[in-house]
Amino acid sequence: MTEPGATSKGYALITGAGQGIGRAIALELALRGFGILATARSQASLKEVVMECGALNGGRATAIAVDLFEADAVDRLVDATRSLPEPLTALVNNAGQAFWGCFEDVSMDDHRKLMRLNVEVPLELTHRLLPMLRVRPESYILMVSSLTAYSAMATLATYCGSKAFLLRFGRSLRLELKDTGVNVCCVCPGTVLTGFTQRANMQAMDDLAKRFGKPPGPIARAAVDALLAGRAEVVPGFLDRTTAWFMKLFPDALVERVASNIYLKRLPKRK
Ligand SMILES: NC(=O)c1ccc[n+]([C@@H]2O[C@H](COP(=O)([O-])OP(=O)(O)OC[C@H]3O[C@@H](n4cnc5c(N)ncnc54)[C@H](OP(=O)(O)O)[C@@H]3O)[C@@H](O)[C@H]2O)c1
Repeated sequence: MTEPGATSKGYALITGAGQGIGRAIALELALRGFGILATARSQASLKEVVMECGALNGGRATAIAVDLFEADAVDRLVDATRSLPEPLTALVNNAGQAFWGCFEDVSMDDHRKLMRLNVEVPLELTHRLLPMLRVRPESYILMVSSLTAYSAMATLATYCGSKAFLLRFGRSLRLELKDTGVNVCCVCPGTVLTGFTQRANMQAMDDLAKRFGKPPGPIARAAVDALLAGRAEVVPGFLDRTTAWFMKLFPDALVERVASNIYLKRLPKRK
């Protein structure tokens, strides 16, 4: 039941909601009246997110700890959406990971993990949940892509490919759903100050991240603003929007060389 005072907009499922951008998006959606179904692996972080979101939306927040690498992960999430007290009206495909290094130096196991988290899970979750979202007068799908979707980049080959997939997939799906109430939006952030670079072993990029990175709050706000306004795509922040504009303006080969050099210069030497 919805608490008095909270305007019910149904529930949003957010993957990777335990921390970083996913957590900030969960808070932002809770603030706008959505109930929250948060998922990640860490029980402790989910507990905090549920408390924080519940304080914003009249207690309409719950969580399920799921490891998205597990084969039954999507089944468990779909089951969880069926037990919600209100209809599911939003899906945020946020969980994602990078493994930094030249393609041959990253193990095939890590490439598979990345593709599972960044591509297979969003694809399958969207496919399974779309029938539920389609029957709502208004519903939302947010794909958390990246600025790296706009250019090929040495040392992040699989990651760039996965984020380009998410962007093209999201925009294509949007075209197919244009006469329905389902709004699909893709957000393409530049560097965001989260645990992401640490997980990707990108500590050598910390100097740049500290100079140009942004906190997740404003990124989430811009993403949710764009999603609820029915926009197709958003690059949050003036600097990153300008960078994206230059990436589209200049020849691919030049953009690829400049972007790759930044990463190649800092990549620790192969042992
Ligand atoms: N940070 C950036 O600079 C940046 C820039 C552009 C785009 N992005 C994209 O934004 C998204 C979120 O990134 P972030 O920076 O917020 O990352 P983050 O701080 O590392 O958070 C990732 C979230 O995903 C969850 N997660 C990771 N592996 C999982 C698994 N196997 N099963 C279930 N949950 C899992 C993590 O929680 P548990 O570990 O508890 O499971 C955590 O809640 C990603 O798709 C990323 O590619 C990030």
